[in-house]
Amino acid sequence: MATRRVVAITGASSGIGRATALRLARNGAAVAICARRADRLERVAAEIAAAGGEPLAIAADVTREADMEQFVAGAVERFGRLDVMVCNAGFGVAGAIDEIAPAQMQELLDVNYTGTYLAARAALRVFRRQGHGHVIVVSSIVGKRGVPYMGAYAATKFAQVGLAECLRAEVAGSRIFVSVVYPVSTDTEFFDVMTERTGVEVARAFGPRQDAATVANAIARAIEHPTPEVYPHFNSRFLVVLNAIAPGLTDRIVKRFGRKPIR
Ligand SMILES: NC(=O)c1ccc[n+]([C@@H]2O[C@H](COP(=O)([O-])OP(=O)(O)OC[C@H]3O[C@@H](n4cnc5c(N)ncnc54)[C@H](OP(=O)(O)O)[C@@H]3O)[C@@H](O)[C@H]2O)c1
Repeated sequence: MATRRVVAITGASSGIGRATALRLARNGAAVAICARRADRLERVAAEIAAAGGEPLAIAADVTREADMEQFVAGAVERFGRLDVMVCNAGFGVAGAIDEIAPAQMQELLDVNYTGTYLAARAALRVFRRQGHGHVIVVSSIVGKRGVPYMGAYAATKFAQVGLAECLRAEVAGSRIFVSVVYPVSTDTEFFDVMTERTGVEVARAFGPRQDAATVANAIARAIEHPTPEVYPHFNSRFLVVLNAIAPGLTDRIVKRFGRKPIR
């Protein structure tokens, strides 16, 4: 990394957020991290320091506007500026649309969509003042192409993409960048949380997998060379192309290889 970046990451107490924080710490970045579990966050902060980065851990809930404002203000106060906001916090629930309770749908929207909006919004005000910045939204490959029994989750991931694409067009030509990351199934605590939130054991679907470090490396590259779309698993972009050309055929493919009914 040529210059020391100041990066804020939501949902960094585990998984992709934690891996990204540690990856950037190895380049000496200043990394502000947030999540709800303060104890886990403190452990990640210690790992960041041990890896060569400068940590700032702030316990925060992405669904609360005041928390996101304080998270960004805290990072700017400590490090003097903010270069990148990684909107990463999120979770999943599996099930057919009629099996998902309205309260579950609302909670998914609150964390995955509204949490992204609030974190990006708080950072944008700083980016506009500075005249530069980079919003990175961690969506999912199911934010490009829905798969069976993930409709509620996929809807929130599509919503993130819509928000990011509009913002990207608004800031085009400026020194504010917007990237969307589309991971495939990634080895994190995501599936444990999904089982807990769904209320029944949720097995992984058939399909490509990757580790969190692979996604973190892709995010680190995007910070160095901002690109609109980041596919940490190279071949996953062919699903997007196939869906654009032949959505009906893609329906049959994702039905055959995707998640099966869980109840
Ligand atoms: N794993 C996959 O297969 C996969 C694939 C594609 C996309 N993704 C996306 O990648 C992102 C990260 O997920 P992951 O796989 O790393 O899962 P993870 O290991 O479960 O991490 C999720 C993170 O989000 C945080 N979080 C959840 N709710 C929050 C809230 N209300 N406020 C603040 N932080 C909150 C969690 O921390 P606390 O519980 O401590 O708050 C945790 O740090 C998510 O947006 C997910 O949709 C994951």
